[in-house]
Amino acid sequence: DPEKVKLGTPESDSPGTRVRVLGRVHRMRAQKDVVFITLADGYGYLQCILTGDMQHAPNNRELHADFFTIIGRAAGDKEAITTRVAPDADPQTLYDNRHLALRGETSSSVMKVRSATLRAFRRAFEENRMLEVTPPAMVQTQVEGGSTLFKFDYYGENAYLTQSSQLYLETCLPSLGDVYCVCPSFRAEKSLTRRHLSEYTHIEAELDFITFTDLLDHLEAVICRVIDLTLAEPEIAGFINQLNPDFKPPSRPFRRMKYSDAIEWLRAHDIPNEEGQPHQFGDDIAEAAERKMTDIINQPIFLTHFPSEIKAFYMKKDVEDRRVTESVDVLMPGVGEIVGGSMRMDDWDELMNAYKHEGMDPSPYYWYTDQRKYGTSPHGGYGLGLERFLAWLCARYTVRDCSLYPRFTGRCTP
Ligand code: 4AD
Ligand code: MG
Repeated sequence: DPEKVKLGTPESDSPGTRVRVLGRVHRMRAQKDVVFITLADGYGYLQCILTGDMQHAPNNRELHADFFTIIGRAAGDKEAITTRVAPDADPQTLYDNRHLALRGETSSSVMKVRSATLRAFRRAFEENRMLEVTPPAMVQTQVEGGSTLFKFDYYGENAYLTQSSQLYLETCLPSLGDVYCVCPSFRAEKSLTRRHLSEYTHIEAELDFITFTDLLDHLEAVICRVIDLTLAEPEIAGFINQLNPDFKPPSRPFRRMKYSDAIEWLRAHDIPNEEGQPHQFGDDIAEAAERKMTDIINQPIFLTHFPSEIKAFYMKKDVEDRRVTESVDVLMPGVGEIVGGSMRMDDWDELMNAYKHEGMDPSPYYWYTDQRKYGTSPHGGYGLGLERFLAWLCARYTVRDCSLYPRFTGRCTP
């Protein structure tokens, strides 16, 4: 038997060789004496002709089949889903058939960019001497507010699916130094938006003995390193170019903008808050306003120093202005927020007051607050939503297209 080769690899690409390929018929065009088949195997595509003379094929690479066997016949009723992104297809039909839609060229290239991006993040973290850990997904504490908790019965006790691994990462600093994780996070989001999932891949990092400026510098360096590493893979750079022809790596340094300046910016540009009123200090900058601002500025923004009243309980206050926190959101054009991070309250008394202020019982958090009792340190970190990062990098309209099997309100299948 000739050598068995994967499509799109150098072995399948040497002219004049006899090879054995196995794949699925991706596209087929039958003429009188000749059948053109685009064969796909997840590695690449190869045009095959079953009879007749050699014809022109993409990349001038073509397999002239002198023998073939059919391994299994396929029903033809869902061809439109697998062979092209059908922009006019009902989205629910596409989500129902995600297992087949993934075979399309667009979906599969997004998944390949996703894999390369994960590889790049891990490498960038390792280059920074950070250690990967895997905190639990089943927890009994909240991180980002009670309204988005998925609750379940855990041997008769209440437990939740984790919203963020942050608190666990913080506890690793004394034993492991700087750490990161790539884990699913869960949010019972009530709203259906193009950037919210119920389950998403959360890339989180926590750094010890740092200042807020160190945190921002690190974030900028990691994001840029990940883009460089991803584009350094020729096949992946090709996919990104097809998906997002206008993509340019962002220039450094990223624009740094305080929340209070963003409020002024929004007022100056007549972009109203959710009540249709001019933005005031203390307002949440909602998704629509945030996206408008980012699209107009059209470059990455570090939005910093959010008021403590609109941010999570654990965020450290700014020593110069106690109304605000040492917090940062990274905003990208087309998507808005892709990262949320902050310095953490490292003083035990202050953290206890924060629980009180929020009306939260600190006792289930003893393992977290102990961190402040047994050798505290200035530290901070962040979480990046992988699907949002990809929506930006690959210019996808929705994060749902950047998840293998997206979970969102009303969908937990397939
Ligand atoms: O801003 P968030 O809620 O921050 C945290 O969870 C922190 N505890 C992270 C940390 O400091 N370790 O979420 C972080 C990021 C967001 O910026 C967004 O990219 C993503 O997670 N994210 C979601 N992505 C998809 N669907 C959702 N429902 C998301 N919620 C947050
Ligand atoms: Mg956030």
